[in-house]
Amino acid sequence: MRPVIPRMKIRDLEFEKFISAEEIHKKVKSLAADINRDYEGKTPLFLPILNGSFIFAADLIRQVNLECRVSFVKHSSYQGTLSSGQLKTLIGLNESLFNQDVVIIEDIMDTGLTLSKVSEEFGSLGTKSVEIVTLIRKPEARTHAVQPKYVGFDIGNQFVVGYGLDYEGYGRNLPDLYQVKS
Ligand code: IMP
Repeated sequence: MRPVIPRMKIRDLEFEKFISAEEIHKKVKSLAADINRDYEGKTPLFLPILNGSFIFAADLIRQVNLECRVSFVKHSSYQGTLSSGQLKTLIGLNESLFNQDVVIIEDIMDTGLTLSKVSEEFGSLGTKSVEIVTLIRKPEARTHAVQPKYVGFDIGNQFVVGYGLDYEGYGRNLPDLYQVKS
């Protein structure tokens, strides 16, 4: 049996269970089914954004039955529980995106800064198409116009950890999603 932790503390913050691993896996399967249907006959290039999307990307890609490639990119815009409003490229692309059907994989869309900058940059490189799949979206936090084609869960403005998402580097290994206790 998998241990489920109903509440826990990371550094100075208390968290409570929010979305179970089972619900997440169901959603991931359904997102992959949509992608398999939409990209039939194509060979998409998946670009997961590190670090947060590594678990989501690994689960999603293993449900994709298309001929495809995967390459990781890394940016940073978060400090603690707040978006810094600035985006730094830490690991860039190492292949050509020319004529590629690109699918950006993101763990969570908050203000939309990361996804708007990244999709703008990729779109300017001669791509055939650029779409976004994000496991979580916070519609109330959005300040940048960006429209992911595939969204797992819409949530409120709360800070969440688990399933790849961290607070100050901790919590990524939790199989379930937790929200900060108000
Ligand atoms: P944005 O650029 O403001 O949309 O922020 C996106 C990035 O911020 C994500 O890739 C995450 O790394 C991080 N982030 C946003 N909200 C959360 C959260 O609730 N928990 C953990 N990380 C978050």
